[in-house]
Amino acid sequence: MRKHESLDVTENYFEIVEKRRAIRKYKPCDIPEEDLKKILEAARLAPSAENSQPWRFIIVKDQKTKELLARPSPQTFIADANAIVVVLADPSVSCCPRATWTTRDPMIATEHLVLAATALGYGTCWIANYESRSKEWINEVKRTLKIPEHIQIIVLVAIGVPDEKPSPRPRRNLQETCFAELYGNPLKFH
Ligand SMILES: Cc1cc2nc3c(=O)[nH]c(=O)nc-3n(C[C@H](O)[C@H](O)[C@H](O)COP(=O)(O)O)c2cc1C
Repeated sequence: MRKHESLDVTENYFEIVEKRRAIRKYKPCDIPEEDLKKILEAARLAPSAENSQPWRFIIVKDQKTKELLARPSPQTFIADANAIVVVLADPSVSCCPRATWTTRDPMIATEHLVLAATALGYGTCWIANYESRSKEWINEVKRTLKIPEHIQIIVLVAIGVPDEKPSPRPRRNLQETCFAELYGNPLKFH
């Protein structure tokens, strides 16, 4: 039995988490500015180590730039998304630049952004496999987007109106990932 009062949004939150899917097919629809602002506001409110907020976001809507970001396959679908958010980290604002939090904090903010987009009916897809792309590609992206040398590209997120309804993808069950008191000790719910 819950002992504290929950916020009105609680039920809605669980619905949003459950509904979110990686979307790899988008309708050619625009995201209104007010929605984009709400989505970015959710990212802005994310927690970060020592509140250093090392994330930076570039919202790319230009078709040619989206195609550059979508190269090479199999990520070409992101060029059809209305926007691609290029998630960056600025190690110079971080409390401890060499600590890994500089790159982790932007991931937290990104999930805020993703859930906010889901709440507003948009589909998203995280794209991290740019890491395997060539140094030339990274240099070209940095040059095209005028990203300063010391800023790191963390991840890309495509956002758009979904043109597919994927079924839930499998997840490990709680017994496999959550333990009681000791590693491997089954956590039981009655
Ligand atoms: C950090 C991260 C990186 C990802 N990178 C890619 C990617 O490069 N390409 C892609 O198509 N999906 C990518 N995804 C989406 C995952 O494949 C997807 O979240 C996972 O298969 C579970 O599916 P679901 O999100 O629909 O539940 C990534 C997701 C995360 C969180």
